[in-house]
Amino acid sequence: MKIHHVGYLAKNIGKTEKKFLELGYVVEKPSRYDEIRKCNIEFLINGDYRVELIQPVSEESPMYPLLKRFKNSPYHFCYEVQSLESAVAELSENGYTVIQEPETAPCIEGRKVVFLNNISMGIIELVEQ
Ligand code: NI
Repeated sequence: MKIHHVGYLAKNIGKTEKKFLELGYVVEKPSRYDEIRKCNIEFLINGDYRVELIQPVSEESPMYPLLKRFKNSPYHFCYEVQSLESAVAELSENGYTVIQEPETAPCIEGRKVVFLNNISMGIIELVEQ
């Protein structure tokens, strides 16, 4: 599966963005509020690599508890798949559990995404092509 982005948790998206820009990343999509996840989300590009900055802005955000655990750090890889449904079925057979049901991602052209977890892998995200 092709990697779409690496999700990077940020306590303060502006400060973290600055550090990425210093390393040569460019802004692909500026910070935008995602009402579904109650997070600010921004995409940065560095050559073939895309990083998603995620700043949970409310304690109601499903990502908020992750801040305590991960602070400023990468915490998921997102993979592109043709069909979310068939990829989830396949991964479920390989020991993954859906931790956030399929939902549209306003910051990725409204495409559908789903989050899964596996004890030996951690969190992965799938985005439908
Ligand atoms: Ni992501």
